[in-house]
Amino acid sequence: MNDDINKDTLILAIESSCDETAASVVRNGRDVMSNVISSQIVLHTLYGGVVPEIASRKHIEKINQVIEQALNDADAELEDIDAIGVTYGPGLVGALLVGVAEAKAIAYATKKPLVGVHHIEGHISANYIENKTLEPPFICLVVSGGHTHLVVVNDYGEYEVIGRTRDDAAGEAFDKVARAIGLGYPGGPKIDKLAKEGNPHAIEFPRASVEGAPFDFSFSGLKSAVLNHINMCQMKDIEIVPADISASFQNAVVDSLTGRAINACHQYGYNKLAIAGGVASNSAIRDAFTDICAREGIEFYHPSPIFCTDNAAMIGVAAYYEYKKGTRHGLDLNAIPNLKLGER
Ligand code: KG4
Ligand code: ZN
Repeated sequence: MNDDINKDTLILAIESSCDETAASVVRNGRDVMSNVISSQIVLHTLYGGVVPEIASRKHIEKINQVIEQALNDADAELEDIDAIGVTYGPGLVGALLVGVAEAKAIAYATKKPLVGVHHIEGHISANYIENKTLEPPFICLVVSGGHTHLVVVNDYGEYEVIGRTRDDAAGEAFDKVARAIGLGYPGGPKIDKLAKEGNPHAIEFPRASVEGAPFDFSFSGLKSAVLNHINMCQMKDIEIVPADISASFQNAVVDSLTGRAINACHQYGYNKLAIAGGVASNSAIRDAFTDICAREGIEFYHPSPIFCTDNAAMIGVAAYYEYKKGTRHGLDLNAIPNLKLGER
């Protein structure tokens, strides 16, 4: 590598919190030099969801080759790397441990600093990759398989969670509804596709609100309403139309998400809104936010789908800003399955 590149800050990032084994090299927090993702989805599809024990075993099998590939794609050697970033929570403990142990081993062998990253901080930071001018403060809606958070991003690494789900995460609701109408795992992308052929107003599903907590979400009632609708159709011998169910369910999710996120922008006085997480790749959600934000004079940001679902590039971006702030973890870093955003 030439000397110019050596002046840059290169992070090698590792992500293994769920069912993707991923590694990436990120330059100066914004420039993704490589982004390798080994997905286990096909394997877990057989069981209708992620099987933790299988996930851990697969991570162990894949992690070395994924990291090697990430370094090769970036045309980098381990000695060019300034710090190792790794997701240490939240997530499946066995899955997280594989990435954390690997990152610690590399940090120890190369004497490079180790920076543990919160998975949600990674999702939020994915917005910096393609939106080069985006800087905090802004509001971010994080919607993934495991999380639904409305967050005020005060600064890099400074978060205030103002809303969260009381029950199911948005992605979980997509996956459960998909299973109920026979679409299989993971349900989000399948509902997204099928909904394009359905009528979003065919069935009026509920938009739940949580009393006294205007920015909290609840999706379990919506999921139950879908299941009740299916039961009712079966009992009355009415045709079940999966495309209409998908479109109507998705429409209810869109309303729940957009309403709260836009209200948060108004109440907290921000005109920048970002979305993140696997569900943020949903086409109806992106279209709705694009329209509403244009009407409301709010700048809308979202990552490309590949940076919405789990990846290590987002962890590299978050690790860069943490590294610049001086965050360092010791070799006693542990996986924390229920790590809270903002906790160290
Ligand atoms: O962020 P992610 O990859 O993993 C977690 O951190 O949880 O999110 C995975 C979730 C799954 O529930 C999946 O069904 C959902 O994101 N998802 C989608 C779409 N693509 C992925 N949900 C709705 N529409 C999509 N296009
Ligand atoms: Zn995720």
